[in-house]
This record gives sequence, structure tokens and C-alpha cells, in this order.
Amino acid sequence: MSNDPSGPTDRVLLITGASSGIGAATARHAGAAGWRLVLAARSQERLQALAVELGGAECALAVPCDVTDWEAQQRVVELTLSAFGQIDAVFANAGFGGPRGFLKDTPERWREMVLTNVYGVALTLRAAIPALTESRGHLLLTSSVAGRRVLPGSMYSCTKHAVTAMGEAARQDLDGTGIRVTLIEPGMVDTPFFENRPTDALQDDDIARSVLFALSQPQHVDVNEILVRPTAQAGQDRALRLCQGAALLAGHRARVRRGRRLPRDRREPDTRSRDDQPVSLEPK
Ligand SMILES: NC(=O)c1ccc[n+]([C@@H]2O[C@H](COP(=O)([O-])OP(=O)(O)OC[C@H]3O[C@@H](n4cnc5c(N)ncnc54)[C@H](OP(=O)(O)O)[C@@H]3O)[C@@H](O)[C@H]2O)c1
Repeated sequence: MSNDPSGPTDRVLLITGASSGIGAATARHAGAAGWRLVLAARSQERLQALAVELGGAECALAVPCDVTDWEAQQRVVELTLSAFGQIDAVFANAGFGGPRGFLKDTPERWREMVLTNVYGVALTLRAAIPALTESRGHLLLTSSVAGRRVLPGSMYSCTKHAVTAMGEAARQDLDGTGIRVTLIEPGMVDTPFFENRPTDALQDDDIARSVLFALSQPQHVDVNEILVRPTAQAGQDRALRLCQGAALLAGHRARVRRGRRLPRDRREPDTRSRDDQPVSLEPK
């Protein structure tokens, strides 16, 4: 096994949600950097096609897996170890979104989302930790900007907050094992995650480069979090701030004209939005 994280490697990276978007792009970047890959998701044909593209059985293994199924997750790890003998990094990335509004989505979809985005990620950790302990490996989890900023009525945002917490909980739990833990927190990325594909968004390659950056650090460096937004994603937030700023300024000027300034505890509350995702682009 290569000890030089920037050089060629025979190290093994397992990716869930590898059939599409961020997971597939990360597989391509990691493959180009010399990683051997295990590609997990439900869409068998897409995984198989990607494994062939990445060089076939020597380089990439396609393993169909529903991340909500504990036995399937254990099987992915077993097949990885029997094919490649080690697991050096795991990217727990499978997930999906839903419309905002607590009355919008069905309870069945909520159940599926919580099981995939939270329980599924926890199962990936649980299945992989023994092998990662052996390799002093690296665990990466896809959270989101929505896992750092609460989005109104968004069950998806709630699941991603759970992933953010899980990353930090795992990092503390695994302290002393040599395992590094990295949270990847993308802003809006143009992938099939969205039914209506966004413009001015990041590309899946942009997030893949972030993952490779974390993976390529020396063993003593643990990149805990990478939060990446498209430059244009200030959109709604900035527009709202500008409007509110103008309104606050107008109120301040009116008070000054009236010859008084309100004491701090009687001033209007700061209601600026911290919402980082445009409401007009609901994920599917
Ligand atoms: N796009 C964004 O703006 C954005 C922003 C922040 C975070 N994220 C997060 O990034 C991750 C990847 O999303 P993406 O944007 O790349 O979307 P995507 O192209 O739709 O990819 C989602 C991946 O998750 C897999 N998946 C979903 N449910 C699964 C299950 N039960 N078992 C196994 N695999 C499952 C899908 O594969 P199968 O359908 O084949 O199973 C697919 O490979 C997700 O966790 C998402 O929440 C996305």
C-alpha cells in the first residue's frame, strides 16, 4: 500500500450512492487518482456500466445495495474485503430530498427519506468501522448546507442535520483509532437530485474534487468539514437581506427624523434569513 497520499495508490474506496451525481463523479476522480473502487447503490446496470468505464473488476466492483438494508450493507463490506482485501476509505453518500412544507410530502416518503439519509448512513458506518479501524482509514459523509442551516418546512434539512451530528459523533467516538472523519456539505449541485435541474449551481465534479482533497491529506490531517456553495448561491439570502436592510434603514431614518433612537432591547429583531437554498428549486 502506498504511503504517499498524493501519489499512485492501491487503496480502496467504497462509495454509496455511486450510480449517479456526486457519488459517480467521485468514483471517476478517485479512479483517475489510482484508487480501487467499490460502487454501491440500487441501480445495478448503471453501477455495472461505471465499473466497466473505470477499468473493470481489477479496478472497480459494482455491488447492488439498498442502504436501508443492514444485511445488504454487510454484504458490500464482505465482498469488498474478499475482492480487494482492505477498505481504506468509505464515502457514505446515498441520499435524496423532498419538497418543503410539513404538509407537502407523504408520511411514507418521510419514512423512506429518514431511513435512507439517516439510518442508511449509520448502517454504512457500522458496517465499515471494523475494516477502517484495521486500515486506520477515512470515513466521509455527505451532509449538506441544509445540514448546517435550517430550511423552512424541510424534512430533508432535518435528515442532513442528523448526518452532520453523526459525522461529529463518529469523529469523537473514533478518536484514538486513527480513523479520520470528514463531512462534505455541498450547496446546490446540478445532479438528478433535482427534478428541475438548477442553473448557477455547482457541478458534481466540484464536490468530487473536495472529496479527493480530504482524501489526499497526510494521515495526521483530518479535514473535519468542507462546506461548498456555488458563488451564485447567495441569491435568495442576499436579496432578502438587501430588502430587510433597506427596510431597517428606512425605519432607522424615520426614528432619527423623529429625534429618537430606540434602546437595544426595543429594537426590531434581526430576522435575516439564513436559508441557503432557493425555495423555487425543490429537490425531488
Ligand atoms: N445535489 C445537491 O444539490 C445536493 C446538495 C447537498 C447534498 N446533496 C447530497 O448528496 C448526495 C448525493 O446526491 P446527488 O446530488 O449526487 O443526487 P443523485 O444524483 O440523485 O444521487 C443519489 C444517489 O443516492 C443513491 N440512493 C438513493 N437512495 C438509495 C438507497 N436506498 N440505497 C442505495 N443508494 C441510494 C442513488 O442510487 P440508486 O437510485 O441507484 O439507489 C444515487 O446513486 C445525497 O446524500 C444528497 O442528499 C446533494
